[in-house]
Amino acid sequence: MLAFGFLLGLALARIATVGALPTNTSGGLGSRSKIAPKVFIIDLFNEEGSSWFGIPEFNVLERNVTVPGFSPLFPEAHCTQDGAICQLVTGEAEINAASTITTLVHSSLFDLTRTYFLIAGIAGINPKVGTIGSVTFARYAVQVGLQYEFDAREKPVEFPTGYVPQGAFAPDQFPPIL
Ligand SMILES: *[C@@H]1O[C@H](CO)[C@@H](O)[C@H](O)[C@H]1NC(C)=O
Ligand SMILES: *[C@@H]1O[C@H](CO)[C@@H](O)[C@H](O)[C@H]1NC(C)=O
Repeated sequence: MLAFGFLLGLALARIATVGALPTNTSGGLGSRSKIAPKVFIIDLFNEEGSSWFGIPEFNVLERNVTVPGFSPLFPEAHCTQDGAICQLVTGEAEINAASTITTLVHSSLFDLTRTYFLIAGIAGINPKVGTIGSVTFARYAVQVGLQYEFDAREKPVEFPTGYVPQGAFAPDQFPPIL
């Protein structure tokens, strides 16, 4: 949580700077013109997304834009009235990030040619190699699918592994079909 708070503080500081710029973008409003955000905030799950709501600097709930192709769980982009700042939630893991952002960049609702993207998500790092606020660039991403992981030191002793499918309660269990 500490890391989360720090990252969020950093993100807010950067947005506050952007917010000081004139926000009356031509083409940002109007039913026929595209929304041309100066900044698009990308979050990955609910709590990250809602942390931008109800803040004094700007209100991204002034304009909700349903974007066909977004996750059914997060079907809308949220924007300020003038469209200068928008925000979305992708859903977790690479697969949801890839499908949502691919949808966004191909959407005819937005003109993203002059948009900065701010990825505002939590991250973790081994404390032996980085501290809170460190900046790193990963050389590789390992896609292991959507699952939970118990730290090996905290998992129940009868679990052969800490990996549990989402919706299941033990390793090697199939999630219930809903
Ligand atoms: C924003 O831009 C529109 C169109 O250019 C203009 O009519 C309007 O007065 C502007 N609003 C503000 C607050 O500057
Ligand atoms: C946008 O959606 C949020 C809920 O996600 C709601 O609270 C808000 O009132 C909506 N804004 C508009 C302009 O309808």
